[in-house]
Amino acid sequence: MSDSAIAVPSYDLFAPDVAADPHPLLHRIRAENPLIRVPELNGYLITRHADVVAALKDRRLATANLGQGLDRLSQAERDELRPVLQSIALWMGHTDEDDHVRFQQLLKRYFTPATVNRLRPRVRELAEELVDAVAASGRMDVVADLAYPLPANVIAEMLGMPTSERERLQAWSRDILALFAPADFARLQASQRSVLEMQDYLRGLVAQRRAEPREDLLSMFVAAEREGVVTEDEIVANCVLLLFAGHETTANLIANGLVLLFDHPDQFELLKSRRDLLPQAVEEMLRCSGPANTIVRVTTEPVEVAGHELPAGQVVYLAMLAGNRDPEVFEEPDRFDITRKPNRHTAFGLGAFYCLGAALARMETDVCFSTLLDRLPNLRPAYETPDLTLSPPFGCRLASLDVTF
Ligand code: HEM
Repeated sequence: MSDSAIAVPSYDLFAPDVAADPHPLLHRIRAENPLIRVPELNGYLITRHADVVAALKDRRLATANLGQGLDRLSQAERDELRPVLQSIALWMGHTDEDDHVRFQQLLKRYFTPATVNRLRPRVRELAEELVDAVAASGRMDVVADLAYPLPANVIAEMLGMPTSERERLQAWSRDILALFAPADFARLQASQRSVLEMQDYLRGLVAQRRAEPREDLLSMFVAAEREGVVTEDEIVANCVLLLFAGHETTANLIANGLVLLFDHPDQFELLKSRRDLLPQAVEEMLRCSGPANTIVRVTTEPVEVAGHELPAGQVVYLAMLAGNRDPEVFEEPDRFDITRKPNRHTAFGLGAFYCLGAALARMETDVCFSTLLDRLPNLRPAYETPDLTLSPPFGCRLASLDVTF
């Protein structure tokens, strides 16, 4: 089929209620038009599981996850953001295929299920420390007190960043988030400042590790630099990626997952009585409320997407959250069912760009919920409605999550 046959329907993708709960509209779009053109996004949207899977696996579709905010800027504004854009061009997955494979080879052995499971006792200690800090008060904001600091502390420790810098690291990471959402220029400038500050700080740590290596990822990078495998610019750029990717998404999974349990008391009770179901519960949280709601790709040559031939240079939005609720693949897709098996969600992507940190995120989320169930068995929501930050079309994350116990 040709490009001209592609539907441009007038769905209101940017309505605030759609960002808060996109599933009714996405079900409609998936049933009516598996591929639509969205002029406001200057691209196309696909929603079926099979089409999302095919697009994730297709190397002719290149990563373009920053496309959303930058398209709307003037040339002068883009020029001003050149330093951050140059740095992001060094992130693994944003490079050419050879450089991508080089980085995957360097890093993957530190992120296998076996390697990350060795960190489990330490992650439990970190989770206990965070619960200890709030235990006496009988209440906490799960987002600020646990879901953000836990994965942030874990990845900071893996890299070898001093404990004293944890708060600064979280503030930087929050600023970086703007790069991935449609944001105004001032927020993008703030993101750039944070990335550059973070990189300056990391250059100092790299210099320290050259003089005095330790048992951490920074020291591994420095050893690879000595062998001519990576450059300092690549090291600092990819440390920023790991620090950012290593906690923002996992934090959202933990917070979203707890809301799912609160909203489905029968499943929460089942989990309390059948702790062996926790790994399956984490998969179901990923499917129902996976933090990576959309992945953006750009066609590098003419390619068929959802049954339509698209020319090169077209932006395609892969609605992961729609694919993960496709009734063709998931029975009763809107039901949160912690016994669901198999669960072929794509929350961590697929193929060449499959999430490096998937095993780590699964383990951290598992440890986090185990700790909550052990330490705070009376955990209850202390909010009327969830406190959401919306970034349309489909972006939505919990700004806070007050609970009592
Ligand atoms: C629930 C938590 C997480 C989710 C939902 C998630 C999701 C994803 C997704 C969907 C991709 C593929 C992007 C694409 O195809 O363009 C990805 C890639 C990636 N993720 Fe994660 N992620 C999570 C946690 C983590 C953690 C903990 C780390 C690191 C410590 C991490 C590091 C990365 C990296 C480095 C890539 C790029 C991989 C490559 O291009 O080879 N992620 N993630």
